[in-house]
Amino acid sequence: MQAKLTIDPAFRVGPVRRRTFGSFVEHLGRCVYTGIYEPSHPSADEQGFRGDVLDLVREMGVSTVRYPGGNFVSGYRWEDGIGPVEDRPKRLDLAWHSLEPNEVGTDEFMAWAKKAGIEPMMAINLGTRGVLEAMDIVEYCNVPGGSDWAEQRRANGADEPYRVKMWCLGNEMDGPWQMGHKTPEEYGRIATEAARAMRMIDPDVELVACGSSSRSMPTFGEWERIVLTEAYDQVDMISAHAYYWEKESGLQEFLVSAEDMDRFIDQVGATIDTVAAARKTDKRIGISFDEWNVWYLDRDPSKPPSGDDWPVAPRLLEDNYSVADAVVVGNLLISLLRHTDRVWSANQAQLVNVIAPIMAEPGGPAWKQTTFHPFALTSANASGEVLRVIVDGPTIESTQFGSVQALDAVATWADGEASVFVVNRHADEAVDASITLPAGCSIKEAVTLHHDDHNWKASAEDDSSVGVTPNGTAAIDGGTLTVTLPPISWTMITLS
Ligand code: AHR
Repeated sequence: MQAKLTIDPAFRVGPVRRRTFGSFVEHLGRCVYTGIYEPSHPSADEQGFRGDVLDLVREMGVSTVRYPGGNFVSGYRWEDGIGPVEDRPKRLDLAWHSLEPNEVGTDEFMAWAKKAGIEPMMAINLGTRGVLEAMDIVEYCNVPGGSDWAEQRRANGADEPYRVKMWCLGNEMDGPWQMGHKTPEEYGRIATEAARAMRMIDPDVELVACGSSSRSMPTFGEWERIVLTEAYDQVDMISAHAYYWEKESGLQEFLVSAEDMDRFIDQVGATIDTVAAARKTDKRIGISFDEWNVWYLDRDPSKPPSGDDWPVAPRLLEDNYSVADAVVVGNLLISLLRHTDRVWSANQAQLVNVIAPIMAEPGGPAWKQTTFHPFALTSANASGEVLRVIVDGPTIESTQFGSVQALDAVATWADGEASVFVVNRHADEAVDASITLPAGCSIKEAVTLHHDDHNWKASAEDDSSVGVTPNGTAAIDGGTLTVTLPPISWTMITLS
């Protein structure tokens, strides 16, 4: 099978945004406790943060981290997580049927964020709490001093304000599973009023309204329209969440999951424009794709405990990812980059142990899942401007999306250096791709993530048998690059 790809610096979509490479830390399962934080671990620092996990977070090239939830935030009292640890209450976390010890809270997260070199993105509770608590946490985080909450922060050891920019106005408020679930009218009102008050405290905050929890939500589309009709003037972005996994429809259908993300972004973008047109405004609103990943939602590890069992940091959502899953993750990143004009921020959910690229055994090693690699390499090598890539090649007949290209690709371009990210989504066939390039390009590196067994998964014992290996088929002749892309593979080619 053969395909032709065309890359041209004229096909510019917009800037590569560092915030595309965000992640997510929720008080869920072992993401926080025995994930980023484990004081008894041999690699733990004086604040209890695992050094081996911090090293992997840095290596992965994570730019921003959303915190503290997720469904958890809709029952969270943020004040429980500040002040002397021995005075902090233990609370039931209804979202994940767990006991929250509150050993990690806002100040610990900010300290960890500084060590990890990431920008914090805070979520507030607009499910079971309201405008006043939203005001309080902004005052605690962002006001230099003089007021009660700001002075409490200083007394708790943070003399300088954190000056958090990005704030999520609640989490998945469209979902009936959410504590304090709301209609779009109810949510639009509270989000608008919380946003107005938060901006009165700090006019520099960037605010994200809740969009839909997936494109298949019954309220999708109308939710965005109604919420934005109310909140348009007060917010900067609206969120989108999407999880994909191999369902009964099979592997081939799963491999083209990014088609759903493409349509999701396009449709939310169209709704934003519709509301803007009706308001006759030039103000632009972006999309914060603040939860996305592969998540085997229908499998056992995802089920929370029940009854009288309220454990601290149980093993939850500890999906072990295959090579096929990693190819889908690489494709989702291609989709996010391709929509850089619409998607201003994105967060892979989540970072450690919970549907995560990084795993950490209590007292034991931290290791990389297959999904670590496409994220780390895209984050490290995408820079400058995003270029749309025109693909003309074999197609796949998808039940959900009709006829779609087997290959999907995006490129970035900075000062004469280019990076091409391409997936072969065909389940069985290799594709020989010829890529038309700007004149004078030469190959710096060509690497492919592939395994003869697409079900191969990494483990604590072996996380290196699949990584990414040089693709020796890549060659340039004149202005054309040729490369063979194995079935179910993700490839990165860097050029100078
Ligand atoms: O990331 C796991 C969960 O998925 C989050 O808590 C929630 O927001 C979403 O439904």
